[in-house]
Amino acid sequence: MPDSILNLRSLTRRFGPVTAVDGISLSVKRGEIFALLGSNGAGKTTTIKILTTMLPPSSGEASVAGYDVVSQATQVRRSMGYVPQAISVDGSLTGYENLVVSAKLYDVPRRERAERVAAALKLVDLEDAAGRLVRTYSGGMIRRLEIAQSTLHRPPVVFLDEPTIGLDPIARASIWQHVTRLRDEFGTTVFFTTHYMEEAEEFCDRIAIMHRGRISIVGTPEELKASVGSGDSTLDDVFVHHAGGVIETFTSGYRETSARRATARRLA
Ligand SMILES: Nc1ncnc2c1ncn2[C@@H]1O[C@H](COP(=O)(O)OP(=O)(O)OP(=O)(O)O)[C@@H](O)[C@H]1O
Ligand SMILES: [Mg+2]
Repeated sequence: MPDSILNLRSLTRRFGPVTAVDGISLSVKRGEIFALLGSNGAGKTTTIKILTTMLPPSSGEASVAGYDVVSQATQVRRSMGYVPQAISVDGSLTGYENLVVSAKLYDVPRRERAERVAAALKLVDLEDAAGRLVRTYSGGMIRRLEIAQSTLHRPPVVFLDEPTIGLDPIARASIWQHVTRLRDEFGTTVFFTTHYMEEAEEFCDRIAIMHRGRISIVGTPEELKASVGSGDSTLDDVFVHHAGGVIETFTSGYRETSARRATARRLA
């Protein structure tokens, strides 16, 4: 399929007795904004970690931009940007310095670095804050800087793990404005995870609902709503139908709670 940039086939990842990702198959087209929607522990981060070569699959296959995530991991890393669920910028450096470090890391040729960093700051509207230490940034500004950082090398695909968690509605809207700009200006494919159904519905071309390691349904927001029957269904109805309940944003599990607190603290 020449127009699909991500291909997952029977992808599985086990952690001891837990099957975090359970034989998922999925294709994402070039230039799509694609959401993986699911509650805590559904397997979203594990899926992204496999696609970004951070974790090997237990079985099955996945390719990014035509490269296999296991046998061609180096080419996969060159083809993608990744904004993890946990923070990835250095608070003791300025926004500008963070981008310069990343430009080196991503092998942006020396003569192009200044221009790329300037373009990245412009893309996410951080030109005025570029000289400030990142520890003085708001959560939304940090996320925008991370998005700029992950796309300095102009990768065809970017993976965003919960890009808007812990942000207020205005900061969330701003993130989406910039993600959309990335796609419109560079044709970047955006694969992201979220708990927020409204934003998946508003900003995505297609959505996959993940539940207990499996994909329950994939489609456009309209297709998902049509799948549960009546014309006035909402994505909440879709989630109840395909994931067996309302989305659980908070659970009592230690790992989830501490991870979420750490994220909230960071972004506060
Ligand atoms: N390194 C690990 N070792 C053991 N179990 C793990 C590990 N990473 C994830 N898991 C388990 O795999 C399952 C899926 O976790 P994952 O982090 O992928 O979910 P998620 O959908 O990203 O959840 P959240 O919304 O909380 O970020 C969970 O049951 C989790 O406890
Ligand atoms: Mg996660």
